[in-house]
Amino acid sequence: MDKIVVEGGARLVGQIPISGAKNAALPLLAAALLPSGASTYHNVPQLADVRTMAKLLGMLGWQVDDARRSLTIAPPAGKAKAKLEAPYELVKTMRASVLVLGPLVARYGRARVSLPGGCAIGARPIDQHLKGLAAMGAKVTLDHGYVDVECKRLRGATIVLDVPTVTGCENLIMAAALAKGRTVIENAAREPEVEELAVVLNKMGAKIQGAGTAVITIEGVDDLHPIEHAIIPDRIEAGTFAVAAAMTRGDVLLEGARPEHLDAVIAKLRAAGVTVAAEAGGLRVRGTGELTAVDLVTQPHPGFPTDMQAQFMVMACLAKGQTVIKEMIFENRYMHVPELGRMGADIRIDGRVAVVRGPVKLTGAKVMATDLRASASLVLAGLVASGKTEVLRVYHLDRGYEAIEKKLRAVGAKIKRAKQ
Ligand code: EPZ
Repeated sequence: MDKIVVEGGARLVGQIPISGAKNAALPLLAAALLPSGASTYHNVPQLADVRTMAKLLGMLGWQVDDARRSLTIAPPAGKAKAKLEAPYELVKTMRASVLVLGPLVARYGRARVSLPGGCAIGARPIDQHLKGLAAMGAKVTLDHGYVDVECKRLRGATIVLDVPTVTGCENLIMAAALAKGRTVIENAAREPEVEELAVVLNKMGAKIQGAGTAVITIEGVDDLHPIEHAIIPDRIEAGTFAVAAAMTRGDVLLEGARPEHLDAVIAKLRAAGVTVAAEAGGLRVRGTGELTAVDLVTQPHPGFPTDMQAQFMVMACLAKGQTVIKEMIFENRYMHVPELGRMGADIRIDGRVAVVRGPVKLTGAKVMATDLRASASLVLAGLVASGKTEVLRVYHLDRGYEAIEKKLRAVGAKIKRAKQ
């Protein structure tokens, strides 16, 4: 297992290329199951989760050709038949595998997917995914830890989601794209990655309107054709490096970042006293002087993203005053707190509320990564802590950040990867 070793104190100056979005790439790879032909994606992030999804498509019988930052995904060739099962061994390593459910049922009338089970940050059920498929006429059976979904041809329905689930919406949009008739999804997730999926499906010949709003309408079609598409930049990676620039009083251009995907994060950075400006090549972030304590509540998009909560919490440790953070999306997304405490952070948890007091002088320590964004927050803490920080179990980090130590070293961080 690898670890990341950081010497604190460097000011980040320069430019960081932002990779393709993990949370767009995963549904887009699943969407490649829908058309009868080979689709190609460009600007594919080199991430463990993307490799896992590519491996799953391979297990289902698709051919996945990886040419550096591009992926071509072709249906089973000749007599080879599509397999319709996503096994436990793979789904347990990445819950987004559940995104093959909608496309397989839509195109082949059946799918058997291991229930993802919980993960470090919460129970993360998929009841809304299944409720929507059942509303479209599918027979849903749970047995032996798997969900079996069958339906000769899905038919359009009106689905009102109890929660604006991101992958739930994505699964249902993909299912509805080939259903017979009109589907309306209400209380839909509005994340940019949901919008990106609709853009690609419409390029394939789907008829989707309203993606990015709370009501999405899909007119089913009989088949979809393959496409070529460049994936949008990763707003959470960009947000993470924006916090790094702010905390180290740096001056960093986030190359390719889209300000319109980061409204809530930019608003909070500015409120905390950070200079953020859109430029031709992306987003420039300057950490000027004092950081101000700014409360935050995580919400579905366009609210403040839960995937940026841990990163902002570390920045709050350097801010003058008390910061109140409320994590409203996942029930257990404070696992970075005890690790930050070992570095000198003053954070108190009470249920969904975390109270951070600052400024504190963080000191380097050996700390343990527990989940993707928690690991990122520990690297951020190491950038400003006095002395050396070692972040262990960085496989969590590699799920969602491409070569993070190379990107940070290129702008002045004293950071390297080593064997644990
Ligand atoms: C997506 O997860 C992202 N992952 C997550 O990013 C992100 O944190 C999350 O959306 C929220 O923005 C991908 O896109 C691959 P949800 P997802 O379904 O779709 C409840 C990262 O760090 N819920 O929107 O799994 C659920 O328990 C990852 O990149 C139900 O109750 O999240 C949670 O409380 C972490 N029933 C809330 O909704 C359901 O059927 C939001 O979950 C589905 C979800």
